[in-house]
Amino acid sequence: MGNTARSRFEAIAEADPEILPVMQAEVRRQQETIELIASENHVSTAVLEALGSVFTNKYAEGYPGKRYYGGCENMDAVEDLARQRLKRLFGCDHANVQPHSGSQANAAVYLAVLQPGDTILSLDLAHGGHLSHGLKVNMSGLLFKIVAYGVDRKTEQFDFAEIRRLAREARPKLIISGASAYPRTIDFDTFSEIAAEVGAVHMADIAHIAGMVAVGLHPSPVPTAGFVTSTTHKTLRGPRGGLIMCKEEFTKKLDSRIFPGTQGGPLMHCIAAKAVAFAEALKPAFKSYQEQILRNAKALAESLVAKGNRLVSGGTDNHLMLLDLRPAYPDVTGKQAEDWLVASNIVVNKNMIPFDERTPTQTSGLRIGTPAATTRGMKEAEMRTVAGLIDRVLRSGGDAATIAAVRGEVLELCRQFLLYD
Ligand SMILES: Cc1ncc(COP(=O)(O)O)c(C=O)c1O
Repeated sequence: MGNTARSRFEAIAEADPEILPVMQAEVRRQQETIELIASENHVSTAVLEALGSVFTNKYAEGYPGKRYYGGCENMDAVEDLARQRLKRLFGCDHANVQPHSGSQANAAVYLAVLQPGDTILSLDLAHGGHLSHGLKVNMSGLLFKIVAYGVDRKTEQFDFAEIRRLAREARPKLIISGASAYPRTIDFDTFSEIAAEVGAVHMADIAHIAGMVAVGLHPSPVPTAGFVTSTTHKTLRGPRGGLIMCKEEFTKKLDSRIFPGTQGGPLMHCIAAKAVAFAEALKPAFKSYQEQILRNAKALAESLVAKGNRLVSGGTDNHLMLLDLRPAYPDVTGKQAEDWLVASNIVVNKNMIPFDERTPTQTSGLRIGTPAATTRGMKEAEMRTVAGLIDRVLRSGGDAATIAAVRGEVLELCRQFLLYD
């Protein structure tokens, strides 16, 4: 079987001719579409290589220096590097890089500080929260009592007086801040203050904004929150996975809730790729990248608004925006808009907007984000072009000729910003 210098594709072609064309089709799809899903990104070749490395072969249950398997010296080295880099990136007391995903990271925190039946105060899913923060059929909703806060109807932003009132009334053991679809800056300090007032622990889930937090372009919850969780694959531009940072006092409990609490062997290839991504994030170019994400989001948002589209809360402070379809296109659902745009090679996702009257499978909104398009080099001028293309597709009501014309323009744009040779 000997692995030689043959290209990966050649090896796959020989071993599995059925999967090869699907992989090639996915490379082509990513190359030929503009990715505007706010939670996605394109990783570097270095991250991809680490992810596809021999680290996948090894069991390393436990933590560096305390493994349940022999032969872990290189596992220890790579996990230590990942942890040290993460600590430098965010300035946290303790880092755990083993969570297989953002949801796993959150689950471990819940099990570290809560007993079944305890109360969590978290953001309503329909107002931008995440399913792992309390969806009824998620372990969070199944095991714990969930009290939800939302955004204010008028400002469509957090109303801290109301969040404080809810916290005093519900006396939660855990307060979760952080969101999947909130376009504004999050005041983590006030969340920490409220948590301290009611004797709760504050967990900030920065999955979406981790890249900006790392470089100081968004306030960090690390100094004040008990726990900070994140995914590694969004603005952080690493492999698919999760991470947890916590205050010193929670270290032992937290680590034991990841392993053996909720996971077995860590995905060491993924941890190697996280280490590489953190090294990339510590370089000055990463700050420039995050700044460009923000400039691109502003340019895209302003162009969409100038064309008569309504954005939830009027705009964005971060990498994403929520387009409220109702005023400009009352009969168009998020589902239809997503389908038309995807057919035009512009990939976005339908999303509930606050106080949405449509169902989660239809929705009245679109979530649009700039991290992936920024990775391939697009700047403000391209964002203005993209806003025009989105607007044309939506206003056409799904007209086939318009979609075909826009797809042609998208392909031309993608050819100027190649992801892969
Ligand atoms: C705020 C937030 N937390 C957690 C997650 C969960 O991440 P994963 O899909 O890796 O479980 C997401 C994913 O979108 C998210 O937006």
